[in-house]
Amino acid sequence: MTISNSTIDRGKYGRTPAMTTRADEVYNDFMSDTRNQLLHAYWKHMGERGNDLMAKAGVKIEHTAEGVAKAREVIGKDQYLSTFMRIKRTAQEIYKQRIVESYGVREEEYLRRMTDAETRGPGTLTYDPNFVYPDYAKVHIHIQPGGYVGSPLAGMLYDYGTSVFYGGENAEDALHKRLAEQTPKPLDGKAARILEIGCGIGQIAVEIKRIHKDAEVIATDISAPMIRYGHLRASEQNIAVHFAQMPSETLDFPDGHFDLVVEHILFHEIPIPVLDKTLKEVFRVLRPGGTFVVWDFASAEPGKPGYAGLLGLMDSADNGEPYAHEFVTCNVEKRLEDVGFTLRSRIQPGVMMGSRVCDKPA
Ligand SMILES: C[S@@+](CC[C@H](N)C(=O)[O-])C[C@H]1O[C@@H](n2cnc3c(N)ncnc32)[C@H](O)[C@@H]1O
Repeated sequence: MTISNSTIDRGKYGRTPAMTTRADEVYNDFMSDTRNQLLHAYWKHMGERGNDLMAKAGVKIEHTAEGVAKAREVIGKDQYLSTFMRIKRTAQEIYKQRIVESYGVREEEYLRRMTDAETRGPGTLTYDPNFVYPDYAKVHIHIQPGGYVGSPLAGMLYDYGTSVFYGGENAEDALHKRLAEQTPKPLDGKAARILEIGCGIGQIAVEIKRIHKDAEVIATDISAPMIRYGHLRASEQNIAVHFAQMPSETLDFPDGHFDLVVEHILFHEIPIPVLDKTLKEVFRVLRPGGTFVVWDFASAEPGKPGYAGLLGLMDSADNGEPYAHEFVTCNVEKRLEDVGFTLRSRIQPGVMMGSRVCDKPA
């Protein structure tokens, strides 16, 4: 065995455990650059080309199996688009698989670390080892093998997988830090109890706690593997976030308990009926005057389809994002108002990002 193939602990890549071998790391760096190129250099151009071709072929962009099949026919006739789609999908499949294999070599060690951290502070962790997951949560989002709930290493796979997705630019949670900094407080300035729903591995919750040092910060997620790793990660940074396994549609908190609730990229990953229940629950657990901040995919607008365009349809189909297309066309702003929120602001800087800040009337 050579050094590069050994399974010694190779330390961290930012806040994330490094790949098990140097070869795995180099491979994923290459995949990361490939993804960057595909997403950043070609996405806009390919999206416009695809929307034009669909319009010329008289084929509507429809989020149904038939709609995807018709879109594939149009794409298949265009060498640029079909190559772009093929490489994007294949790159995603192979880098995810490499991460699974690389961490898998040291699985026992990683699971031991998570178990050892369970009772370690400064934060806390609660989850139910016998939790029964609803079917909608078992999909392999982002083609991550096992999805969020089917692998005990799901949190780590997500962490490294999204690092590759962000082109290596999020190793120190820079994106989450920026969002935490931009998260507005309630209008009366009081933010003593803060909740993040669908917290994943707690990247925003940790950054929020760094900013709101005196606040109690609770981070909930449906997936035990995600929060087990999140708790380990937060404890390694000595940040007191309280992680709890909890579906966003059934929040186990009293009415009016929180000043501020945040969600980041949860909503486009749940079905609309679950989204509607979640909105009611968030409204219930916020105090009058409390604020809900929704950071998620931008809503489609007339003449600006964004993720509701052809590439979004295909991403939904090929990137294991079964609910995203519905989310961007569901008019989440109206749904927020329907449960009682007042929309304070809405900003849509890009296809993959929009913010909606809402207040519960005081
Ligand atoms: C894309 S990740 C976002 C994680 C985190 N908010 C971030 O900014 O990185 C979506 C998360 O939502 C969780 N999730 C999915 N359905 C959920 C539900 N019904 N209730 C709570 N969490 C859910 C998944 O387990 C996953 O951790």
